[in-house]
Amino acid sequence: MVAAGSGDRFGGPKQLAPLGTARVVDEAVRVAVSMSAGVVVVVGPEHLDDVAASLTTYWPGAVIVVAGGASRSASVRAGLDAAPEDASVVLIHDAARPLASPALYERVIAAVEAGADAVVPGVPLADTIRRVDGGVIDRASLHAVQTPQGFPAAVIRAAHAAGADASDDATLVEQRGGKVVVVEGEPENFKITV
Ligand code: CTP
Ligand code: MG
Repeated sequence: MVAAGSGDRFGGPKQLAPLGTARVVDEAVRVAVSMSAGVVVVVGPEHLDDVAASLTTYWPGAVIVVAGGASRSASVRAGLDAAPEDASVVLIHDAARPLASPALYERVIAAVEAGADAVVPGVPLADTIRRVDGGVIDRASLHAVQTPQGFPAAVIRAAHAAGADASDDATLVEQRGGKVVVVEGEPENFKITV
């Protein structure tokens, strides 16, 4: 669970904004804990103590909290480094998407277990997409990609071993020749951005 961004477009660390009776990160972790053997939460070093205190109170024993890096990919690597060696399936999720449902986690996990190198939730685009330099792109061939993205642990560890940056994790797997499978995403699983 990557939660180490600065939220520049939002105007502050959106993962710590209030949501329901807790915070965005708490809600995202609540679902992840219910769907997994354990969750590594990656946060900015300045929020480490605060987030660790709340998460370990809510879910003692189920959560590891570590400090993130300067880019999203660096934060993912910090999380992978803290994940147990014997983890077989790894899901990587943005804390800024607190509304991903258990059913979505199940679809992602099932597709990894069925043999995919990388699994991403995709949703059809609702808006017409126009190139800034002119012309409309056929949106029927496009998906907006969400998280959680799922991987065999060895595949995602290898993809991140070179220390590359990408806007998502499946891209790093695809760049190494891995096959990306798209499962049905959820419009409700939007990323809090602004
Ligand atoms: N993230 C992270 N470490 C970073 C950058 C981003 O863990 N160095 C996380 C964010 O906390 C978020 C997810 O990656 O859960 C998706 O990133 P994004 O929506 O871009 O969030 P921010 O980087 O915080 O926002 P902004 O780009 O507007 O600054
Ligand atoms: Mg960002």
